[in-house]
Amino acid sequence: MGTSGEISNSIFKGTLEPIGQLRGASNGSLLCKDSSESLFVYKPIAGERPLWDFPDNTLSGREVAAANLDVMLDWNLVPPTRWISDGPVGPGMVQKWIEEIDELRPVNIFETDRVPTGWLSILDAVDQTGRPVTLAHEDNEALMRMALFDAIVNNADRKAGHILADENGRIFAIDHGVCFNEEPKLRTVLWGWVDKPIWEPHLTSLRQLQGTLGDYHDQIDTFLSRAESRELRQRIQGLLETESFPRPSDDWPSIPWPVF
Ligand SMILES: Nc1ncnc2c1ncn2[C@@H]1O[C@H](COP(=O)(O)OP(=O)(O)O)[C@@H](O)[C@H]1O
Ligand SMILES: [Mg+2]
Repeated sequence: MGTSGEISNSIFKGTLEPIGQLRGASNGSLLCKDSSESLFVYKPIAGERPLWDFPDNTLSGREVAAANLDVMLDWNLVPPTRWISDGPVGPGMVQKWIEEIDELRPVNIFETDRVPTGWLSILDAVDQTGRPVTLAHEDNEALMRMALFDAIVNNADRKAGHILADENGRIFAIDHGVCFNEEPKLRTVLWGWVDKPIWEPHLTSLRQLQGTLGDYHDQIDTFLSRAESRELRQRIQGLLETESFPRPSDDWPSIPWPVF
């Protein structure tokens, strides 16, 4: 796997040294540094917690497939990510660490009458004190691209905490371990564009992706089952036919919990 072009180049220098466990991680994910002190997330297969609805030992591979798909789309959402066969605790995925600026997070919960102008409201609720609150996200092209990316990869866990903003306000998508299931499982906080038309340049990217993928693409399909590969192509075809954002399904909780 990872046999051609840019994707196969290493993203770290020398060897990876684990320096701690990731805070808030549900799996045995490690924070590492390379020989030039740059930080990386390393998710070894060995640290994966079994899930009822995903085959065992496939989560880090799904992360790499999602990152490779982002590269193929040229959408620059996922931090540079690679498969590593000889990591400190065996095979897994490695991803560049993004220094997150909390205040720039494009998804948040507000008192209902304080949602910033221009933000899209997703869900109304009441907090512990009975005050009306609203989950909302920004309305911008990068976030819209991320919502479409999630529809393509069938992301079952786009929490607010899986969207990072760096000091320049650039946004990144992380944690794609539960993507590409063969059943529809789209679960996200980015529902602001339901039924809206997909922007023409994004349709162009989708058509190009369809061509690049063909029936089999090493950098994606090595990590997926046959049924998952088939469904990925079906979802792309479906989006190209409707030319609009999907709506939440009735038989699957469509907002991840917890939201952060
Ligand atoms: N590439 C990254 N850059 C910066 N922070 C990250 C990165 N990957 C993960 N994190 C941080 O670590 C937390 C746990 O990582 P996540 O990918 O969600 O792991 P898990 O699969 O265990 O849920 C994230 O919520 C985030 O705060
Ligand atoms: Mg997570």
